Amino acid sequence: MGRSVTVIVVLMATGFLVSQLVSCAKTDRTEKPGTAQPKGQAQQEKVATPAKESSAEVAPATPAAESPPGESKSGESKSDESESGKSAEATPAEGEQAATSESKEQAAVPASKVSEPQTVMLGAAELTAGIPGAGELTLVQIDSWLKDPKQHVVLKPELPPGLAAGAGQITGLDANPLTRAKIELGRQLYFDKRLSSDGTVSCASCHDPQFGYAFNTQFGVGIDGQTGNRNSPVAYNRILSGPQFWDGRAESLEAQAVGPIANPIEMGNTHEACVVTVKAIEGYRKQFVAIFGEEGVTIDNIGRALATFERVLVTGPSPWDAYQQLADFEKAYADDIADLDELKKEDEQLYSEYQQLKEASAALPISPSAIHGGELFFGDQGGCTACHVGANFTDEKYHNLGVGMDKPADKIDWGRFEVTKDDKDRGAFKTPTVRNITLTAPYMHDGSQ
Ligand code: HEC
Ligand code: HEC
Repeated sequence: MGRSVTVIVVLMATGFLVSQLVSCAKTDRTEKPGTAQPKGQAQQEKVATPAKESSAEVAPATPAAESPPGESKSGESKSDESESGKSAEATPAEGEQAATSESKEQAAVPASKVSEPQTVMLGAAELTAGIPGAGELTLVQIDSWLKDPKQHVVLKPELPPGLAAGAGQITGLDANPLTRAKIELGRQLYFDKRLSSDGTVSCASCHDPQFGYAFNTQFGVGIDGQTGNRNSPVAYNRILSGPQFWDGRAESLEAQAVGPIANPIEMGNTHEACVVTVKAIEGYRKQFVAIFGEEGVTIDNIGRALATFERVLVTGPSPWDAYQQLADFEKAYADDIADLDELKKEDEQLYSEYQQLKEASAALPISPSAIHGGELFFGDQGGCTACHVGANFTDEKYHNLGVGMDKPADKIDWGRFEVTKDDKDRGAFKTPTVRNITLTAPYMHDGSQ
């Protein structure tokens, strides 16, 4: 069955149907972090990661540059400087602040003092907008951010429509509670190339907001242009996913996040060296202490912060979600909606629920061919939902679709088998989400399609 499924998969993945069906195009919420952060690839690398020169020695106060939410202009001009290694602007400012900063290190509000969890909607731009202000982050900005108790309130996430049905799948929050301060720290680390051995590669180098937090190359490209043999999967909707990687070898997002740092062909660093680098940056040190207490910067806490940022990256409702919800309603209440005037009089609430669903669907228009694709995808004919099922369109299980299995035996990537050594897992890979699929080509574990 491998081959035939693959053929259909390719047809649908590269064609119009699935794209319209599950991609959320411009309205998608995954773009919101992208807006708050710099938009384009070049811009983003620059803004989030001041050049190596401007790191530890020169400008310890700037773990990441920041642009005001929704405004990329200042990010652009400032980042041009960082790229050419000119951090002059940041240096004098840093000099001034360095004197006072030590005493402030303990000043932040410890998380334990804040009670009352607060419910937030994931995907809200507010969560990933970063520390307010223009230009590179200063210690003063970091201090005033950390001092606000709001940043340390534990957040209870809700999922946007479409994903919301997967609420029961949310994992990892008990062990690593969500707070605004931790999300922001994770965001800075995620875009910071200084985590790599030579300051050239960040998580975003292979999981770029521009490409749906995946990347448009067949394989991830690490330091010195090295490549492995697997395609970069998406880093969104991870909150609904337990084990990570194509073969599920990392048991949690936290465990996954520290892997690439020490992977010789990815970020090429050691965990020890990475901790030393991050610790040497005062702006980071303050945030780690404020968030994690005395132990401050450790590799596990770096993993916790990165995982926290990734957990808030979610897709918004797709045109299909809105269409489907409306269609379900129309089916369930066919009799009631036959006479709308009557319904308005008899059951105002149901009437207004119907109007809202209609408005939501009108706001996310869907083409007839996408509807057809959706019917195939979710119908018996396509059979896709045997595996691409649930809110994130994945069963989180491992299957061999035959992809890459035609290579010489010694070149074959056996996927899940390498983890379990169980013969039934030979060549099996984790079912990926197909949400936002148009943004994340090429496809499959080996990027072959
Ligand atoms: C050099 C490119 C590269 C870099 C840098 C990189 N990744 Fe990845 N990432 C990949 C590839 C390739 C995979 C799939 C590897 C596998 O399955 O064996 C992956 C897998 C993942 C996954 C698993 C997703 C899933 O669906 O299972 C997550 C999450 C992730 N990376 C986050 C990160 C974070 C966080 C960082 C920074 C600390 C990072 N990556 C750095 C290329 C990269
Ligand atoms: C038996 C389970 C199964 C079925 C049925 C199935 N898929 Fe998949 N799908 C997977 C797995 C597993 C992968 C990853 C395979 C690999 O990389 O080797 C995948 C990969 C994909 C990808 C690439 C995603 C990416 O990010 O690389 C798309 C698109 C896709 N499937 C769409 C479909 C469509 C459309 C159908 C129905 C015609 C379908 N699939 C049926 C399990 C399945």
